[in-house]
Amino acid sequence: MLDFSEFLIESSEDNAHALHASTYNTLEFLKFEQKAIFEKQWQLVGHVSQLKNTGDQFVVKVGKYPLVIVRNEDNGIRALHNVCRHRAGPVATGKGNSKVLRCKYHGWTYQLDGQLRSAPEMQSTPNFEVCQHKLPEAFVEIWQGFIFASIDKPDVDIEHLLANIVETIKPINLENFSFSHRDEYIIDCNWKVYMDNYLEGYHLPHVHPGLNKLLDYRSYDTKLFEWYSYQYSPLENESNNQADIYYGEGSAHYYCIFPNLMLNILPGRLQTNIILPEGHQKTKILFDYYYADLESESTKKLIKKDTEFSDEVQQEDIDICEKVQVGLNSGSYQAGRLCSKREMGVLHFQNLVRRTISKHLK
Ligand code: FES
Ligand SMILES: [Fe+2]
Repeated sequence: MLDFSEFLIESSEDNAHALHASTYNTLEFLKFEQKAIFEKQWQLVGHVSQLKNTGDQFVVKVGKYPLVIVRNEDNGIRALHNVCRHRAGPVATGKGNSKVLRCKYHGWTYQLDGQLRSAPEMQSTPNFEVCQHKLPEAFVEIWQGFIFASIDKPDVDIEHLLANIVETIKPINLENFSFSHRDEYIIDCNWKVYMDNYLEGYHLPHVHPGLNKLLDYRSYDTKLFEWYSYQYSPLENESNNQADIYYGEGSAHYYCIFPNLMLNILPGRLQTNIILPEGHQKTKILFDYYYADLESESTKKLIKKDTEFSDEVQQEDIDICEKVQVGLNSGSYQAGRLCSKREMGVLHFQNLVRRTISKHLK
């Protein structure tokens, strides 16, 4: 077994080094991350606007665990393991509404709170009682309408994780947003390659010439907090008409929340990015779009524009991330120096990875 302990020592600002290549290209390291990060830190799984009525449900995966997120009779939201107690079939698929959860394999039927209610033809089976079987539950918290879940009890509570965001983004109120649609991307790189890339503007002039014209590279700054990093930019920029036309008035707030969530908050709209490992060198990116007023004509136009623009930037990032993974796999690279002016967000994230995995290994 590979020994990662040397690579998990936190890097200080005055000698900042990136994570070692082996943390990006080995299945062993991803297994630690699944346990310590993806099953023990809050994961954004959806929004209350997707579960309006009792019985509304959708399936997700958190770490290795398939879950069904469902609105219960008591109006609460639960995250049940979507793994039947009989022989591990799914009790839900896709999204929809039902009064009970019926397994797709042999029809065992569960209440919305996970309690088994009936099991066809099991009456004469010795030592079997329906009341003794229940779907396990994940932890769930709702924050500003967003549904977070975790398989194990997380180290930090949700209010602490996201402290001060609500106050900082005023007058924008996240509770006004509703889910519009999702775009998905599959990228051939480790999930952290994509995270690192999001966390610095250093690559902007080289990778995104179009976006670079809209933003003021020199004033691009990142503030670090305990569990997230934050970039802010005022949008009224008289010298730069293009930015006004695209973004409108107000402020843009960009949060990168440990471990794998980005909130891109603009006036009237919000995009979340969720970064999920599909393998040690394969990553799924979910782009979810939310708007304050889904029905208005101006929102419909905005949706089209947002999607097109975000697609262009995304392709540029995908391309560079995949090339970086080739470099990480080459054997030529171990762990490079980070730029103290531009890459402290990367260092902050990578130190959280180091700390979380170290804690898990102890
Ligand atoms: S696996 Fe669910 S009923 Fe058999
Ligand atoms: Fe980028």
